[in-house]
Amino acid sequence: MTNIFLPYIDSLRKNHDLPCEFLVDLIERNDVESDLFSAADKVRREIYGTDVYIRGLIEFTSYCKNNCYYCGIRRDNKNAQRYRLSNNDIMICCREGYSLGYRTFVLQGGEDMFYTDSKICSIVYKIKSEYPDCAVTLSLGERSAESYKSFFKAGASRYLLRHETADEGHYRKLHPYEMSLENRKKCLFSLKEIGYQVGSGFMVGSPYQTIDNLISDIRFLQKLDPDMIGIGTYITHKDTPFSDRENGDIYLSLRIIAILRLMFPHALIPATTALGTVHPQGREMALKAGANVVMPNLSPINVRKKYALYDNKICTDEESAQCRECLEKRICDAGYRVVTSVGDVRRD
Ligand code: 5AD
Ligand code: FES
Repeated sequence: MTNIFLPYIDSLRKNHDLPCEFLVDLIERNDVESDLFSAADKVRREIYGTDVYIRGLIEFTSYCKNNCYYCGIRRDNKNAQRYRLSNNDIMICCREGYSLGYRTFVLQGGEDMFYTDSKICSIVYKIKSEYPDCAVTLSLGERSAESYKSFFKAGASRYLLRHETADEGHYRKLHPYEMSLENRKKCLFSLKEIGYQVGSGFMVGSPYQTIDNLISDIRFLQKLDPDMIGIGTYITHKDTPFSDRENGDIYLSLRIIAILRLMFPHALIPATTALGTVHPQGREMALKAGANVVMPNLSPINVRKKYALYDNKICTDEESAQCRECLEKRICDAGYRVVTSVGDVRRD
């Protein structure tokens, strides 16, 4: 029997859009899933072939001034082990990463004001001077437009800042009063204006999330039109106010990834670590549903477990070289190939 939802999948592919009522069907129905995934994979192959870009993630600080209810490194988690990497530690990660074929370094951390603008600029500048053929991506949360400009001038060209949820009511259930969705959105638009390639995204299955919230998230992405879209399944952390919550659904996450591939054919969509954590084949399944990037960890092995945004995070016992080798095999076995180029988004 042919799938009655096929025309919707086709319409989403052709028009990169779909009325909300049909989007809801594609998000919710697991009987549409295999057709949705294969349509998304077809589109990704038309644009990116079987290429999978790799980005080396350096988690340089686990200090955070924020207190998001879902996150393991939130300020009030007294059990969290805090660390900061020195400039020298960061350069060692880059050296190792470069030799393993990485040409993008992603500096990610909590919102840690120890790293002043000038400290960040000097790290970025140092990486760009030693590795001019590499891109530096920052993921340090919300800062002023002035700060973002100075990082850009120092050589950072990409910035990752997930909006987490685009709905005001849902945002309030996930964040304390001192944080604001409005500011988050403002940051994203100013990053774009400055000239960064911007990555945004959200968690799937976070507490209190409704189908309408997911639609708002997708609609917000259509307004922002980011270069990268990071989708991670929500995973509970035992030392957060949400410790009694269940993890998000991997298949729901995969359906969202496939919808986003059809909507944003050129986007960079990572097969995230969270997907690999909720399911042993999560990242491979994401690649087959339209994802085209992986972001393995380059942090020193002695800090890996300390950057615990959620429980049971994978790749915390493996050296960078082991992850690189493991990923190569996983990506090949899934029918794709690792490319080591800098991997900018392809725009037509
Ligand atoms: N589960 C899954 N993802 C999480 N993040 C933070 N906490 C969790 C969690 N408990 C994600 C957020 C953030 C990114 C770095 O990690 O989306 O933007
Ligand atoms: Fe890290 Fe497989 S990717 S061990």
